[in-house]
Amino acid sequence: MEGPLGFETDLWSNWLRNHRYGGDADYERNVRSRVAVYVKRVLDGAELWPGMTLLDIGAGEGAVGLAAIERLGARLKVLFIDISPSLLRHAEALALCAGVASQCRFLQASVEHMVPVADASVDAVTSRAVLAYVPDKLAALRECFRVLKPGGRISIGEPVFRDEALAAAALSQVLAARVVDHPDRLMPLVQRWQAAQFPDTPDAIAQHPLTNYSERDLVRFLQQAGFGHIHLEFHIDVGEAEPIPWEVFINTSLHPLAPTLAEIMQAQFDAEERRIFEHGMRPAIESGDRVCTDRMAYVTAVRPYL
Ligand SMILES: C[S@@+](CC[C@H](N)C(=O)[O-])C[C@H]1O[C@@H](n2cnc3c(N)ncnc32)[C@H](O)[C@@H]1O
Repeated sequence: MEGPLGFETDLWSNWLRNHRYGGDADYERNVRSRVAVYVKRVLDGAELWPGMTLLDIGAGEGAVGLAAIERLGARLKVLFIDISPSLLRHAEALALCAGVASQCRFLQASVEHMVPVADASVDAVTSRAVLAYVPDKLAALRECFRVLKPGGRISIGEPVFRDEALAAAALSQVLAARVVDHPDRLMPLVQRWQAAQFPDTPDAIAQHPLTNYSERDLVRFLQQAGFGHIHLEFHIDVGEAEPIPWEVFINTSLHPLAPTLAEIMQAQFDAEERRIFEHGMRPAIESGDRVCTDRMAYVTAVRPYL
């Protein structure tokens, strides 16, 4: 499939460039301004300095690396690594437009096997919303340790979705125990919607990359990988959701591994169920009258000299 710039799309680029916003320019602006806050915190944690080489893993469209160049100017070199060739080409096009491509290198690799990156060759590593999608997080952090110079820093900002999955599992259990003819027609549909986005059994939660860790596991993995001076901040922000037009909302998905609501409704609901679901959910989505919880783990660590 071809994306808007003529690049082949894949699951990752399709989400970052399309399903994250549901094709809506206003919503895209809001999402981008939220992401800019996460990116700023990750860059603060990296403690950048002129002349250094920064490796941004799971670089996507280059949000972190390009913001780092904006912050530090011409004396920063950035290595962008991603598994998606489409996103790497997109990030490269943005770097060219910004006139900073000569400071950038774009490499396709999985963070679990960063073969093209030499041992002890970078001064800092950043990761923003990447480890959440990597099955073997310890292997990824061992690779980050390997490529960092002694004294180099890693700065990570990861969403933690475990509570969403536990809530989906709890709802599934309650409904499985009660339903045959459930009196509330909406609740079983909400359960199917949640279960399409998150694993909803204890086994599946333990296996799935998105939910196979907590913020504390990130600290443990960093320790096991050999890092020192580890500092974790876990931010939980609870607030009202922003109002989103229904047509936009149904064309978004919460994360790259989840289908959009439109896809879920099409695949899993019949026409009457779609009507009940929309009737029940649409007012809260369009008014923003619902609670929205954001859980982000920010962790920094240093590769010791010895
Ligand atoms: C949610 S996006 C975040 C992109 C970027 N870090 C940002 O802050 O906008 C996740 C990114 O991780 C990349 N990714 C997923 N699994 C990966 C892996 N095993 N190795 C390298 N990159 C990976 C995806 O291609 C995607 O670009």
